Amino acid sequence: MADVEETLFPRRKERFEDRRKESDQRKLLDEFFDHATLGAVSRLVTQGQFEQMDYPISTGKEGGVFRATAPDGYRAVKVYRIGNAVFKRLPAHALEALKREASTSNYGRLVTAWTRREHTVLRRLFDAKVRCPQPYGYLRNVLVMDFIGTDGVAAPRLQTVQIEDPQGVHDDLVVQVRRMVNDARLVHGDLSEYNVLAHEGRPVLIDVAQAMEASHPQARALLERDIVNFVRFFRRLGVKTSLESFLAAVGPVQLGPKVV
Ligand SMILES: Nc1ncnc2c1ncn2[C@@H]1O[C@H](COP(=O)(O)OP(=O)(O)O)[C@@H](O)[C@H]1O
Ligand SMILES: [Mg+2]
Repeated sequence: MADVEETLFPRRKERFEDRRKESDQRKLLDEFFDHATLGAVSRLVTQGQFEQMDYPISTGKEGGVFRATAPDGYRAVKVYRIGNAVFKRLPAHALEALKREASTSNYGRLVTAWTRREHTVLRRLFDAKVRCPQPYGYLRNVLVMDFIGTDGVAAPRLQTVQIEDPQGVHDDLVVQVRRMVNDARLVHGDLSEYNVLAHEGRPVLIDVAQAMEASHPQARALLERDIVNFVRFFRRLGVKTSLESFLAAVGPVQLGPKVV
C-alpha cells in the first residue's frame, strides 16, 4: 500500500519533515486508512471524485474529515472508522434498527450502511434547500461532499466563532429547520452549535447520519431536543428565544406517524 499512500498523500513528505510529526501522521494514517479504506479512497480517485487528500480537518474516535482537492475545487472527505466506535453514541434501539435495515450485524457492513445513510440524508436535505454540504458520492466507509470553507480554509463551527448577528443566524436556523421537517421530512437528531458551521455569516448543517424520518414516533422528542440546544446557545448570545417561540416561528410541522 506504500505506493497508493504516496499517490494519495503526495504532500505528506514535504509537509512533515520533522521526524516526530512524520510518525504522528503515520499513526493517524494507519488508524484511519486500513487496507480496505485505502482501496475505497483510491477507487474514488479513479472515479474522478478528487485527486488527492490534503490533510485532516478533524479527527475523532468515530472517524475523521479530510480536505481533498478536486479539479474544480476542494472536497470534504469523511472517513468512518471500521468498528463499533461509530455507534457508541447511538441509542441501543437505533443500532438495532440499523442492523435490521442493513440485515447484518457485521461492523464493516454497518459502517457502510451508516455512510450510505449520511449520503442519502445529505441528498434529501440538499434537494429540500436546507443549507448543508452537497453530497458527491460514497464508497464503503468514505463519503465525499462539498467542502464548506473559504480559500481552502474550513469553516469554523458555530460554537467557536464570534457571531456578529446572532438574531439573524437564529432566524436563518428557523428556516433550515422548517425545510428539514416539512420539505425533507427529516429530523436531524444531533443539532447543536457543534454540528453547524459558520460559513460567510450563515449557518450550514452537518453531521446528519443519525437523522430520523419526521414520521417516526420519536421525531417530536428529537426535534424538541435539537431546538432546546439552539435555544440554550442563542440565549447566551442575548437572543430572546424559547422552545415555544422557536417552534412557533418554524410554523406548523408535520411530525409523528402518518394518519391513514
Ligand atoms: N463539509 C465539510 N466542510 C468543511 N468542514 C467539515 C465538513 N464536514 C465536517 N467538517 C469538519 O469536521 C468536523 C467533524 O465533522 P462531523 O460531520 O461533525 O463528524 P463527527 O462529529 O461525527 O466527528 C466538523 O466539526 C467540521 O469542523
Ligand atoms: Mg459532529
